[in-house]
Amino acid sequence: MTPGLPTDPDDPRLQGWYHTIDLGNGLVPRAVYDLRPVIDLYGIPESLEGMTVLDVGTGDGFFAFEMERRGADRVVAVDLARLGDCDWLPQRRSEIGVAADNQDWPKHFRLAHAMRGSSVDYRHANIYDLSPYNVGTFDLVFCGSLLLHLQNPLKALLAIRSVTRSMAVVETSLDAKLEAQPDLVSRAVLGFGPPDIEARHGENNVFWQFTSGALQKMLQFADFNQVKIAGVFKLPPTEALAASAVAYT
Ligand SMILES: C[S@@+](CC[C@H](N)C(=O)[O-])C[C@H]1O[C@@H](n2cnc3c(N)ncnc32)[C@H](O)[C@@H]1O
Repeated sequence: MTPGLPTDPDDPRLQGWYHTIDLGNGLVPRAVYDLRPVIDLYGIPESLEGMTVLDVGTGDGFFAFEMERRGADRVVAVDLARLGDCDWLPQRRSEIGVAADNQDWPKHFRLAHAMRGSSVDYRHANIYDLSPYNVGTFDLVFCGSLLLHLQNPLKALLAIRSVTRSMAVVETSLDAKLEAQPDLVSRAVLGFGPPDIEARHGENNVFWQFTSGALQKMLQFADFNQVKIAGVFKLPPTEALAASAVAYT
């Protein structure tokens, strides 16, 4: 292992992560989500040999590293340069103040990248700005748990479509109560806002709780064909309900 990298499970650099990621040598950070038990429900092909992949809103990089492990020829992972670039409501953005300019937040990705000896290419990009001119096009584009945080998810899906050569896999959280009503699912209804987890509107930047039907229809509006829901599952350990869709160009 490269000198200077953590070797002890109690190393403070392994605390407070978003993703549980196998960092090698038995080291696994303490994280909010452990998506390893559900990774096979997203509809991502088991082998990605011969494919190029883009992971949009990579966070700590769990999916980008998994795509690399599945043999992709090339993986590019993008995320915002600064916390302040998230799609905040203006009143929340001004409250974040200087923390919004913190540019150190891919630090977990960088550490995982070094510890795994990864070749994933990390870039800063806003999903709305993705285009063939700035990132190129990819056989597979993945976007997990991001649409809910965007003021304009359809615009984001159109940007994803512009850089997708063959297929996209898009996962987002569902409104469990709406999803339980088949007539609403088929009418592609979206829930707006998460009253239960925000004391003030827009505090956690959560705008939309989808139904699987809404996810499917929005991908069709974004000019994808053959859109199907690969899985509806709970994200461990929070048990938030989510759907993953596979969509072809
Ligand atoms: C909830 S996390 C999801 C991480 C990972 N994709 C997953 O499925 O577990 C959302 C990620 O999207 C990033 N993000 C938020 N707004 C974005 C935007 N407009 N463009 C690109 N990335 C964005 C955040 O910085 C964060 O890393």
